[in-house]
Amino acid sequence: ISLKNFNTFGIDVKAKYFASVTNTNQLTKLLANKNYPDKLVLGGGSNMLLTQDQDKLVIHVNIKGISIKNEDDNFVYVEANAGENWHEFVLWCLDNDFGGLENLSLIPGNVGTAPIQNIGAYGVELKDTFVSCNALNIDTLEETTFTKNDCNFGYRNSIFKNEAKDKYIITSVVFRLSKINHKLHMDYGAIISELNAQNVKNPTIQAISKAVIAIRESKLPNPKEIGNSGSFFKNPVISKKKFKKLQSNFKKIPSYPISNSEVKVPAGWLIETAGFKGKRFGNYGVHKNQALVLVNYGGAEGSDIFELSKLIQKTVFRLFDISIETEVNIL
Ligand code: EPU
Repeated sequence: ISLKNFNTFGIDVKAKYFASVTNTNQLTKLLANKNYPDKLVLGGGSNMLLTQDQDKLVIHVNIKGISIKNEDDNFVYVEANAGENWHEFVLWCLDNDFGGLENLSLIPGNVGTAPIQNIGAYGVELKDTFVSCNALNIDTLEETTFTKNDCNFGYRNSIFKNEAKDKYIITSVVFRLSKINHKLHMDYGAIISELNAQNVKNPTIQAISKAVIAIRESKLPNPKEIGNSGSFFKNPVISKKKFKKLQSNFKKIPSYPISNSEVKVPAGWLIETAGFKGKRFGNYGVHKNQALVLVNYGGAEGSDIFELSKLIQKTVFRLFDISIETEVNIL
């Protein structure tokens, strides 16, 4: 079958074997099936670039359900199953006035894949509200609970991108969300400007979500209209020494502090300065409002987009002596 509708890039490659599972039992049975030694697990398909037809058994994790596990006067512990759409889950929390995920509104993908790259935006990361997740071990078929500590979360990083890579399938995630006295995260300048533009005087978590949605819609292409995987690259971390050197040639180079010796540089700026922003190559290219995002205008080959990403990496390296890593998985 075609995987076009199962990846947000909208790449039309074929899977030889495909199965969608709606509960952990079905998932366990499939994993136990030795007729298909190689498996590829698909969640929301929002963080991958498919460059070829897949001979593996493609498993679409479509396990739904949201429940309240526990609560006290201030907090609620909500468990969401892996197949829940991330943004719909955020909206469910906001409808119930549960706070903590509002800054992560409109991020493409599903709940089960969110911990893998510790999704983050506008000053908040998944790890800030994450309590634990359940995952199936692909080899032993045992269900394991990973606490927040076990997960080793970092910027766009976790154990699931390192030691536990390709070894587990996350089946559900528990979040700790506020019921009262919501802590609002508005350090990100764009949120304040947007709230002012909307004339919001006393922001609520719902208002912040609305602001984030407006910001994202103005900068990021909607995958339903233009295929994309969000940020294609990670923002690189470089030494302050190197940054100072770059500043002498590029006076306007932006940065965020990371530690005493390091800064993070927005890859979008590097790519824009390298001249790629808004560049179109037939049916694919670089988004016009955010140079970090590569786009499929319809019918593009994953391999073409992959070649473009390599060209961008090479050009950025030549100009700035900085290697930018891809954030999406190339398959
Ligand atoms: N910039 C440019 N040109 C561009 C894009 C960005 O010059 O085309 C510079 C500007 O200086 C701008 C700065 O980069 O002020 C920061 O841009 P933005 O606020 O858009 O954030 P980002 O660092 O480019 C990161 C995340 C996004 C997340 C935003 C907001 C990564 C790889 N990306 O982007 O995440 O939404 O911050 O918090 O960390 C995603 O992961 O898919 C994603 C969209």
